Amino acid sequence: MESLDLMTKIVSLCKRRGFIFQSSEIYGGLKSCYDYGPLGVELKRNIAAEWWRSMVYKREDVVGIDASIMMHPQVWKTSGHLSGFSDPLVDCLNCKERFRADKAPKKAPGTEVTFKKGGKASGEALTGKVDGRGYVCPVCGSSQLSDERQFNLMFRTSMGPVDPLSDFIRDAYDGEGKLKDMPREDFRAKLEEAVKSTAVYLRPETAQAMFVQFLNVQQSQSMKVPFGIAQTGKSFRNEIVTEHFIFRSCEFEQMEMEFFVEPGTQTEWLKYWCDERMNWYRNYANNKDAFQLRRHEGDELAHYSDDCYDIEYNYPWGWGELEGIASRTDYDLSRHAEASGVKLSYFDQQKVDPATGKPGWRYTPYVIEPAAGLTRSVLCFLLDAYAEEKGVDHEGKEKIRVVLKLHPRLAPIKAAVLPLVKKDGQPEKARAIVAEFRKLGINVSYDEQQSIGKRYAKHDEIGTPFCITIDNETITSDTVTIRDRDSATQVRVPTARAVEIVRERLDSLG
Ligand code: GAP
Repeated sequence: MESLDLMTKIVSLCKRRGFIFQSSEIYGGLKSCYDYGPLGVELKRNIAAEWWRSMVYKREDVVGIDASIMMHPQVWKTSGHLSGFSDPLVDCLNCKERFRADKAPKKAPGTEVTFKKGGKASGEALTGKVDGRGYVCPVCGSSQLSDERQFNLMFRTSMGPVDPLSDFIRDAYDGEGKLKDMPREDFRAKLEEAVKSTAVYLRPETAQAMFVQFLNVQQSQSMKVPFGIAQTGKSFRNEIVTEHFIFRSCEFEQMEMEFFVEPGTQTEWLKYWCDERMNWYRNYANNKDAFQLRRHEGDELAHYSDDCYDIEYNYPWGWGELEGIASRTDYDLSRHAEASGVKLSYFDQQKVDPATGKPGWRYTPYVIEPAAGLTRSVLCFLLDAYAEEKGVDHEGKEKIRVVLKLHPRLAPIKAAVLPLVKKDGQPEKARAIVAEFRKLGINVSYDEQQSIGKRYAKHDEIGTPFCITIDNETITSDTVTIRDRDSATQVRVPTARAVEIVRERLDSLG
């Protein structure tokens, strides 16, 4: 299968089977916004639940929070997001495409390039020379580009009943209702000032709440360093380029954990978390080699980081980031302590202060941050699971079986219960099994439409790991078959054991 073809197939399957829809589709959609349908929401919740189980429930040293999306604007000033969280934006003067300079196709300065006028296939052929910046337009290949300007990625909105624009307009007009004579820059500065007075921002990452709530969490839970705070939730970035379906969107979800450690131990903890997180992905994946760890080059490191790795996935368009694991030093706690005046430090009675040699050491913890994308993980696990297998149907004709080999703990529906026919007491038997699953809180599907072959095919395509079929023998010998999605083989078991067998299988994979 061609890899980019795979992406088209995934997008189509997502819509057809109810995983992911374009947001506001009936109005033509909203760029890069997606709605998770009945199966997509299950897959996303299952990934988040497995992450939470591994990061919080299975450990003594990590606890969770769920912070508000809007935070005090000072948080973003202190973290550096207001001044520095921006991408270099460039306009193509030929085709009018707007793109990120750092992601544009590279060409040696001075290279002669040809491109079509206006970016149209029928346009006149033009030539140009790549300038000192060393890149061209990613769409039409033109070297005719605007200057770069920094574009802040945070979404700004205003909080409270006061409309800052009303105040601005009142000030901008004189007593006679005429617009005051003002240079353009002053006008812009006054407008900016008015908007800032009520401005709040949608968080661009979940991480900052874990830093500003460090003390509350540490003290209320009596946590001892090393310990972590975990959070999953929505983040928002006004991305210049959104791409590859849900890979890069403006509204997305993250799964982040800030792990606070003693200064000097960060290198060993960074290695520990890189191993943990790689193993986590590989545990749920079919193709374990499609995940790799890549260390950041010195010039890639963020200003707050002394070392960093990316967990990368081999997407259809090549290797790309899935999760970042950064050693963030004491940057965040120190900056927030300085700006708020609150001591965000930790006192360890058991340790000797290396500066004084006396017992008891107060220090600002260092931080290791595994920062994963939840919505990006949804895409990654869908890509990893998609398979087409050659087989034959009941008439011996060749056919392709599409199967989503999702890890059973991630699969949206754990079991489908299928009466072979809609009579002879089979639906009643099937409904009794469904009721047992529901009592256990296991997501199950009762399905009596279409031929049994079509029902198996549908459940293969949505990744249902087990199909329980009720047939004549269920009535005569009180047995059912359990069909395994990946091997398509069936075993016959006593009806009374069917639910337990599926549950044991799911538990054993946990
Ligand atoms: N607190 C650190 C932080 O946010 P990041 O590398 O910017 O680090 C972490 O983001 C993860 O969040 C990424 O590895 C990616 O999986 C996901 N992510 C970031 N921007 C995204 C976007 N625009 N759309 C979807 N996922 C995104």
